[in-house]
Formats: sequence, structure tokens, C-alpha cells
Amino acid sequence: MEILQKNMNKNTQKKSLVPTKFESINFEIKGDSRGSLIAIENNKNIPFEIKRVYYIFDTKIGVERGFHAHLNLQQILIAVSGSCQIVLDNGKPENNNEIITLNNPNQGLYISGLIWRKMINFSPDCVLLVLADDFYNESDYIRNYDEFLKVVKSNEQ
Ligand code: TYD
Repeated sequence: MEILQKNMNKNTQKKSLVPTKFESINFEIKGDSRGSLIAIENNKNIPFEIKRVYYIFDTKIGVERGFHAHLNLQQILIAVSGSCQIVLDNGKPENNNEIITLNNPNQGLYISGLIWRKMINFSPDCVLLVLADDFYNESDYIRNYDEFLKVVKSNEQ
């Protein structure tokens, strides 16, 4: 009985509360003769309130990062310099991995819900800016692919 209760708690903890989706966002460039500027504002040109910003840079040649999913985090990824590719996998049998190239500072990739992501093909000058709707929280991560597939299934029920 105790074991059953523990397993039930584990399953309910693993439900994702945000819908699984990804989409590109094109930010308006405010350009003039001096150059370009992009402004990002909570709930205006992005669909959430930013609680955390981090950036990945100086990535060594051939390095691949990520290899995880989030239960509830929403993120926007922007290659503010250089380029990289994001491989997205929703864990559904019919899904073919989607590969998005980020190579323009006015292009954002919004990701929410249960999506396994990898970051690959970083150019040496890539600065990948990430905006997130929550603080860093290791318990929101799924870092094991088999566990990810189980969570996707349990989330369908
Ligand atoms: P990691 O999850 O390996 O990065 P990636 O998704 O790019 O592969 O994170 C690297 C380290 O940085 C790890 O020790 C966790 C830590 N970290 C933070 O402390 N705060 C953060 O917001 C993030 C994203 C990572």
C-alpha cells in the first residue's frame, strides 16, 4: 500500500502543466542608420514573464548540449551571435525530430512542455541567449530519455 502510494505520487508529480509546443518568433528590429536593436517585453512580444536569463557561449567545436526535457518550463532561445541548431523531439512514435537552425538575432524559438531538446552545431562565435519563465530548478528536468518517453505517455492519459 505504501509502495503504491509512493508510485502514485511519483506519477502525479510528473504531469506537465503546460502544453507541448514550439514555434518561431520573429522579433521586430528597430533599425536606423546606427544599426539594429531588438526589445523583448514580458507578455508583449513573448508569451510569458521572464524570471531567468542565461546564455551559452564559447562552446567548443563538436560539443552537443541539452539532452533533457522540462516538465513545466517555457523558454525562448535566441542566437544573438553566430549560429547553432536545436533538435526537438516530442517523444511521440510518429514524430520525426525537428531541427531548427538559429542564425539570426531577430529569430526566437519558443519551447514549452514535454520536448526533448539537443543543441548542436554551435559556431565558435555563437552566443545562445535563453529566456525562461522560471528559476533554475533541477526537479523540473527530465534527463533520462526512457523516463522522458514514460512521462510523455503518462501525460497523454
Ligand atoms: P546543463 O543543464 O548541463 O546545460 P545544458 O542544458 O546547456 O546542457 O547546465 C550546466 C550547469 O549549469 C549545471 O551544473 C547546471 C547549471 N545551471 C544553473 O546553475 N542555472 C541554470 O539556469 C542552468 C540552465 C544551468
